Amino acid sequence: MTRLVGVLGGAGAVGRTAVERLRGFGLPVRVGGRDLARAGEVARAHAAEAVMVDLFDDASLAAFCAGCSVVLNCAGPSYQVLDRVARAALEAGAGYVDAAGDLVAADALAQNPPAALARHPAVFSAGLMPGLSGLLPRLLLDGSPVARLDVYVGGSVEISAASAVDALLTRGPKFGHALAMWRDGRVAPHSLAPLRSITLPGFRGRVHAVPFLSTEMIGLASAAGLTELRNYTVYATDNLPQAFATAWADEGQPPEAHADAIVDAAQRDVAAHGRHYAVLAYARPRVGSGLMPRRVLLRTPDSYPLSGVVSAVAARQVALGSVIPGAHFASEVLDPEAVAKELAADPLVSELALPSR
Ligand SMILES: NC(=O)c1ccc[n+]([C@@H]2O[C@H](COP(=O)([O-])OP(=O)(O)OC[C@H]3O[C@@H](n4cnc5c(N)ncnc54)[C@H](OP(=O)(O)O)[C@@H]3O)[C@@H](O)[C@H]2O)c1
Repeated sequence: MTRLVGVLGGAGAVGRTAVERLRGFGLPVRVGGRDLARAGEVARAHAAEAVMVDLFDDASLAAFCAGCSVVLNCAGPSYQVLDRVARAALEAGAGYVDAAGDLVAADALAQNPPAALARHPAVFSAGLMPGLSGLLPRLLLDGSPVARLDVYVGGSVEISAASAVDALLTRGPKFGHALAMWRDGRVAPHSLAPLRSITLPGFRGRVHAVPFLSTEMIGLASAAGLTELRNYTVYATDNLPQAFATAWADEGQPPEAHADAIVDAAQRDVAAHGRHYAVLAYARPRVGSGLMPRRVLLRTPDSYPLSGVVSAVAARQVALGSVIPGAHFASEVLDPEAVAKELAADPLVSELALPSR
């Protein structure tokens, strides 16, 4: 059986690294994009094949998926892609991994599930956030009694136009709840305030941490039966929170109208503070348990290529048949220990501090 992995958007910020890692795993790769010259450049660098494909053209998408054992989607924006590529991959008899996708894409697939979903997996949100942001904290939930989990994810990196539009759309109950925490088995709205000008292990200088209880974190908290979970997005400056607030206040305009402002705000952060990104999770034990707090910390220079690493690791697991059929989120279906082992050896990870046992 072929083990060909088709990487749609394989010449992009996320896809390029995914192609490199998949080839490093010894898997044959097909790189796809609308610009054949760009796809060809990446393909040549990694001894892969290049194919011209527009994911919004049914025939070219079907031809791209044909013969693949897994299709990895690294093309966006995700809110336009939704379950389009997943359906084409499943139709072609392939498994599916999406570097993005979120609940909206998984829901779109679940609304009218194709029969092939009973035979193949579709793994959504296989990037850094969402993705690793929900997976790494699971290393702290290994049976020890946890009273409270705090998760911080963010830093200072450039944002691509595709991701900027996706980020602008991450509002509403399908994405999460601003200023909320998880408490006593439910979402507790308006229960947290932004933490301004704080220092955090693994993050450079003083940062702002803005509470956002994502659907990924709600899934983690409810699956683990946590009493309390606090999740923060970390920013190097006020540039991005201000750009998001301005865009969200401008309800008359489509999100695309504000993408440049988001891209620009991220660039100003990088110009002032350099490129860096971290995931930090703290587990506090129950009072009287006699246990010490534990933490997991990952640092990387850039979240985009690292999202490519995560999506490649997920695609390999699907190619090897290690993921059960059905629709899943990466943070729920991947094995955190196995992914941590891959990350510890990856040159894009500058630090991975795992919890002591
Ligand atoms: N989970 C996470 O942490 C995370 C992190 C970063 C990004 N993401 C998500 O990953 C996705 C990609 O982001 P990125 O920053 O890598 O974007 P990017 O650098 O703009 O790359 C997108 C790639 O997709 C291709 N593409 C775009 N439209 C296409 C179409 N209609 N048909 C076929 N190929 C198409 C582009 O090539 P052509 O122009 O040649 O077609 C390009 O190679 C976005 O949805 C983003 O939100 C997730």
